[in-house]
Amino acid sequence: MNEIALRLSQHLRTEAAEIGELAAVLDQIAVAGKLIARELGRASLIGQLGLTGDVNVQGEAVKKLDVWANDVMVRVLDASGVVCTMVSEEMDEPLHLAERCPAGQYVVCFDPVDGSSNLDVNGIVGTIFSVRRRRGRGIDHAAADAVQPGSAQVAAGYVMYGPSTMLVYTAGKGVHAFTLDPTIGEFVRSRQHIQTPGRGHIYSVNEAHAPVWAPGIREYIDYLRARDPASGRPYTARYVGSMVADVHRTLLEGGIFLYPGEVGADGKTSGKLRLQYEAAPMAFLIEQAGGKASTGRERIQDIHPASAHQRVPILIGSRDDVTMAEEFAAGRR
Ligand code: AHG
Ligand code: MN
Ligand code: MN
Repeated sequence: MNEIALRLSQHLRTEAAEIGELAAVLDQIAVAGKLIARELGRASLIGQLGLTGDVNVQGEAVKKLDVWANDVMVRVLDASGVVCTMVSEEMDEPLHLAERCPAGQYVVCFDPVDGSSNLDVNGIVGTIFSVRRRRGRGIDHAAADAVQPGSAQVAAGYVMYGPSTMLVYTAGKGVHAFTLDPTIGEFVRSRQHIQTPGRGHIYSVNEAHAPVWAPGIREYIDYLRARDPASGRPYTARYVGSMVADVHRTLLEGGIFLYPGEVGADGKTSGKLRLQYEAAPMAFLIEQAGGKASTGRERIQDIHPASAHQRVPILIGSRDDVTMAEEFAAGRR
């Protein structure tokens, strides 16, 4: 049956008139997705699980597959011939392909393995990507290219490595999903124009951090847990600990995923998730599906990053759920 369904490469060919060489970038990301899916499938048999012993720019222990997948992403994007700057969770500094800077058109930010705490337990992980056009020309402009806001994205999405491997993307014309058919080695369209329900019944958050949330967020989660069948409460809790898996479920079934700001000993609030390759691409996707993404105070897509690895709080999901969470966060409820 699948053989007659639409393959990603065909889909991109039909889109190419409108999206141009962006099709080449997406096609190469699909190649990386296939390579990473294959490696994940056999990682426990070939010694690819566990740590490298290094710590990344985020101060987090690096896993072997983080490094391996980062290398794959760099190589496939380089081979596209149209990417001049890359920003990755696993690279301290943006990678500028100087020889492509005069001609290269795209800046790609990515998280090669998202949810890597799930790797050693055969849990779901993903690869998140975010594509922008270059702003300037030449190597002098390359640093500025890496800190453009989410609203400058021309495409974003993720590859999710679960029971099946799925590529979900938007290029600003809706959200489309493709499922890898391993028997033919092709991503085949499985959903198109995905719309997130206006309201859901699931919340997804690491509740172990409740003591360091702002009071409004604690009150919001208490509200969702309270029993009131007339208003659809209590909600159900689901938390994979892999943003790709938690956002994918939220995209399809609605509800809300949160990684709220946490108040430190110095009184300052900081988020965990990274703007350029976690929050912004997911915000682009969910907005394309009719949902919302916010820090609690402002739209994720409107943030002008101060640095390539900036972290932000995030509330993302169904329009009505995120609006209500914002109201609690602002103390208006
Ligand atoms: P990464 O594996 O790329 O560092 O990302 C992990 C992120 C995200 O996937 C997930 O939503 C969140 O961190 C989980 O964090 P906690 O373990 O603190 O809940
Ligand atoms: Mn991540
Ligand atoms: Mn990661």
